[in-house]
Amino acid sequence: MKKILILGDIHANYPALQVILNYVREYRFDRIINTGDFTVYGTFPNETIQWFNNRKKTVCILGNTERRILRILKGKKLKRPKKEEKRVMYFWTSENLLPNNVKYLKSLPRQTDFIIGNIRIGVFHGTYDDENETLFPDTPETRFRKLAQDAPYRVHIMGHSHTPYYKIVDGVHFINPGSAGRMFDGDPRASFAILKIFSGEITAVHYRIPYPVEAMIKGLKQNRLPDIYAKMYRTGRKLN
Ligand SMILES: [Fe+2]
Repeated sequence: MKKILILGDIHANYPALQVILNYVREYRFDRIINTGDFTVYGTFPNETIQWFNNRKKTVCILGNTERRILRILKGKKLKRPKKEEKRVMYFWTSENLLPNNVKYLKSLPRQTDFIIGNIRIGVFHGTYDDENETLFPDTPETRFRKLAQDAPYRVHIMGHSHTPYYKIVDGVHFINPGSAGRMFDGDPRASFAILKIFSGEITAVHYRIPYPVEAMIKGLKQNRLPDIYAKMYRTGRKLN
């Protein structure tokens, strides 16, 4: 039996990451996947990046937040997001990242794949052919079918929409773990998934667990970051 922990859109929510890891501490995972967007909005990007950098068997890719941070660090202009309260979070992150963590981000791919238990798995922030595409459970099935046909994977692991789903289309499994650190559905609990592979059988299960939201809010306050994000963490809603 191969066991894989799937995390995505952690958004520097290290308190949530710690709670998840504690919850699954009995498991011995063969891989830990991070679908990207593990920086920006929370004030713990260094702790979050370090955790992945210090582990073996992790499969990490860049999300749009990391791609933007790397642009800022190269001295390029940040075109999006346009809202000032969002931009401030990107600049705060880029100013506070430790050099070793910047180096780690620079080493990461935008998408990747691996084979485990004879199953080929692709890992994307958006989708196989569009890193900015956002898929939801109600995205027309034709789109999932096209991805199933075009890409050489039995399992697609994706992030970006902050919406948990598990769909099987034409024998291809599509899994979004939801957001570990910034859910938008009105339930502030952390979302993640566990994938199991046994003799060619694939199963995935989602989890939602509470984490200490106040630790995130304290981090925002200490760094004088916009109040709207405290409300976002408390309500589990996207407010801007
Ligand atoms: Fe995200």
